Amino acid sequence: MTLRLGVNIDHVATVRNARGGSWPDPLRAALLAEAAGADGITAHLREDRRHIRDADIEALMAGISIPLNFEMAATAEMQAIALRHKPHAVCVVPEKREERTTEGGLDVAGDEARLADFIAPLREAGSRVSMFIGHDAAQIEASARIGAAVVELHTGHYCELIAEGCEVEAAAELAALREGAAHAHQLGLEVHAGHGISYDTVAAFASFPQVVELNIGHFLIGEAIFRGLGPAIEEMRHRMDASRSAIEG
Ligand code: PXP
Repeated sequence: MTLRLGVNIDHVATVRNARGGSWPDPLRAALLAEAAGADGITAHLREDRRHIRDADIEALMAGISIPLNFEMAATAEMQAIALRHKPHAVCVVPEKREERTTEGGLDVAGDEARLADFIAPLREAGSRVSMFIGHDAAQIEASARIGAAVVELHTGHYCELIAEGCEVEAAAELAALREGAAHAHQLGLEVHAGHGISYDTVAAFASFPQVVELNIGHFLIGEAIFRGLGPAIEEMRHRMDASRSAIEG
């Protein structure tokens, strides 16, 4: 199965917003990502608009020719925005005002009826709906029951453990993610993975045969400072493809 790369351009907007103007432009970054081999663009419109703004979503919808994966919290405001734009994909994520980034997975099992109602109109509008969750079976099974097409497994904890040198704990977390990917696939869910992925950790996830998409942002935008956005993405693509072909023989 091919492995798609979704490039998250939120942090181009973070840099832009640090000075309040219009530079650097997230759309320009998205077009560069497209030229460098990204299969999709991911953008998270947070409730507090700390990075991506409403006008960025409009510009991305109009300007890119690869699919947009619109990340959003399960709120009425975001649902209305998604229904207006009808992006290729909607990824529902948990959101807390005080967090620096999306810290954990969505509690689909604990909010099943509301989330089923929440995603139904998005599905009817033609968006491929994914739930950003941890690897536990309860969350995966609830995502399947509510009719999500995709689960995106939260890879952040594994990536943190690797960065901290906690190899034993990291191996256990990776095994749980691998099991989660297999379980989701068995239930007919498409499996994606994302959060905190870098050159050091990408191979681990690219080698899960069930994973068909990785969404990567912060590392790539940071690496772009040193080698430019196009080359940073090309290197990630190369590593993904190499790991995938290694498992496919
Ligand atoms: N996937 C989801 C659902 C996310 O919320 C994020 C962060 O916005 C990412 C992937 C990308 O994470 P990172 O920026 O750490 O690569």
